[in-house]
Amino acid sequence: MAEQPVNLDPFWMPYTANRSFKKRPRLIKSATRYHYQTLDGREVLDSFSGLWTTGLGHCHPHIVQAVQQQVATLDYATGFQVSHEGPFRLAEKLIEKAPEGFSQVFFTNSGSEAADTAMKIALGYHRSKGDSTRLKFIGRQRGYHGTNFGGMSIGGIPANRTMFGNSLLPNVFHLQATHQPEFSAFSKGQPSKGAELADELEMMVQFHRPENIAAVMIEPVAGSGGVVIPPIGYLEKIREICTRHDILLIFDEVITAFGRIGDYFGAQRFNVIPDIITVAKGLTNGVIPMGGVLVKSEIYDAFMQGPESMVEFFHGYTYSGHPVAAAAGLASMEVYERDAPFQTARQLEGDFENSLHGVADAKNVTDVRNFGLMGAIDIAPRPDAPGARGFEVHEKCFAAGLMVRHSADTLQFSPFLTSTPEHFEETFDTVKKIINELD
Ligand SMILES: Cc1ncc(COP(=O)(O)O)c(C=O)c1O
Repeated sequence: MAEQPVNLDPFWMPYTANRSFKKRPRLIKSATRYHYQTLDGREVLDSFSGLWTTGLGHCHPHIVQAVQQQVATLDYATGFQVSHEGPFRLAEKLIEKAPEGFSQVFFTNSGSEAADTAMKIALGYHRSKGDSTRLKFIGRQRGYHGTNFGGMSIGGIPANRTMFGNSLLPNVFHLQATHQPEFSAFSKGQPSKGAELADELEMMVQFHRPENIAAVMIEPVAGSGGVVIPPIGYLEKIREICTRHDILLIFDEVITAFGRIGDYFGAQRFNVIPDIITVAKGLTNGVIPMGGVLVKSEIYDAFMQGPESMVEFFHGYTYSGHPVAAAAGLASMEVYERDAPFQTARQLEGDFENSLHGVADAKNVTDVRNFGLMGAIDIAPRPDAPGARGFEVHEKCFAAGLMVRHSADTLQFSPFLTSTPEHFEETFDTVKKIINELD
């Protein structure tokens, strides 16, 4: 590596093998559309659109310009009791694109905060209706809802929970994940078998009693847990059970919103409409941190009680609706509308699927799956070192000029919404070659 002037020691890196990274750093200096440029002067194709964030490509000129203008005009304004135009305009645009019935947006700074905010909204909603026994939540194994206490507790990735053991929220229960490789390995799109897994929700509801359950929170397609795709009919059943028992259904769409599965919201792609939707990532194309919680009017209205001079919901962040984030969000929405990248993404699904499944016969590959522009490859773990093969693919791909995301031995893919078929060929040719070289 080229001369390294950066002191790597003081920064405790998130979700990173710090010791290994600091021995063999992978430092990025800049980005242009589809590529990163590394500190040592190499081009790296990004097969993950940032971190599921940057579907429109890096340094999109329209968003860059909007951010530059905004930061020089209004850098910050409090959002408590005073505000500015940005979040109102952005909320209006989001509601225009959201499924019917959604009417308000609460802004946060991240997907984690959106998850915890959604859980608080669910509790507050039931309480304000006099349903104060509805305190339990149901999540799903392999679900990921960020790292704050609510999202971590309702999330179902063991590694994220183990260290915090008994400090996780009580009253949170988990459905089983919908990944059934014994029936659906190497499936393309939604697996045909598995809708009956939703019946577990009915059993759980009967066991805990409906009047005690506030909400079910799931990702329409689980992302960080390894691209776990809902079997045909599964989400419809979950929706029906929640409706029948007055349980709120929260879709965590931090990944699936903004074109990742070909629509503004995954709810629209599946035609299954929840009561609350959380977003982040693609909301600003990843340029400025921002998240949001979209709610239906009856939820907002339930909070609007009591004296008008009173705060209705004692919740918010210093940076909720931050001017620069709102500008990045509005500019992203303008590009989504103007350039129709979701249509392009849909047209690319077939090429993506073909190239991804071309890795199916590589050494030790046990499953390949995809939906929209989300894909995963499972590699059998080394018996004595789970996760090592995935990490080696990531490291070797980076050295070969390709950014690949791995979580343990699952490789995850989230290409740009405006990729070309050549990007897919380059990505999966490299991945296949490197997987085949591993012992
Ligand atoms: C579905 C989902 N929810 C929540 C989060 C957390 O978002 P953040 O990292 O912005 O807090 C993520 C992040 O990957 C996510 O994929």
